[in-house]
Amino acid sequence: KQKIQVAIDGPASAGKSTVAKLVAKNFGYIYCDTGAMYRSVTLKAIQNHLSLSDESTIVAMLKQTKISFTPGNPVQHVFVDDKEVTEDIRQPNITNSVSTIASLAGVRTELVNRQREIANQNSIVMDGRDIGTAVLPNAPVKIFLIASVSERAERRYKENIAKGIETPLAQLKKEIEVRDHKDSTRKVSPLTKAKDAIEVDTTSMTIEQVVNEITKIINQRI
Ligand code: C5P
Repeated sequence: KQKIQVAIDGPASAGKSTVAKLVAKNFGYIYCDTGAMYRSVTLKAIQNHLSLSDESTIVAMLKQTKISFTPGNPVQHVFVDDKEVTEDIRQPNITNSVSTIASLAGVRTELVNRQREIANQNSIVMDGRDIGTAVLPNAPVKIFLIASVSERAERRYKENIAKGIETPLAQLKKEIEVRDHKDSTRKVSPLTKAKDAIEVDTTSMTIEQVVNEITKIINQRI
């Protein structure tokens, strides 16, 4: 049976992981959250007191690091060296440092290789920043999810409150803008819409509407 790849990219908090998970479930594909991999490297580097710009040391650490996932609802579980880090990697200090780690070429090479290996084995929905442009450039389905900064900050705010994290809305908006800027302007595979990606603006759409829209696109292409 032919393996299908669905690439979902877009800026921070555009709802990628929420809809990617639902779409994967509907089609019986696996889901791969590539952001969780960059977050995992960031967490381990911080725990080891490494300088986040020390590329060779961080890449050496990463090569000795196992990052794995197990399915879960509503969040899949993430493990670094078999220790669960599902919640740790979503803490604000990780969120605000991850773009620095993600700009290191050696880190990207290693993680992109791992991502391609996962994608080769299964039909997959993979979300991130460079899936359609760099990781799976031949994916038959590429979606670029966007939403206004205010809408994304509000979504993140609600998510945070549910997790007991109190960050003022204005600060979240600022942090999202800073992260998008770093992700869009880095040298190696910056966040950008692939030429053949379909843009979906989710600003005034419900999760269900976005899932339906993507489902329609997938069904047209497979
Ligand atoms: O998707 P999420 O917000 O968890 O991603 C965290 C960070 O990881 C992004 O801001 C970006 O710096 C990095 N990332 C990346 N390439 C990907 C996925 C995430 O550079 N494919």
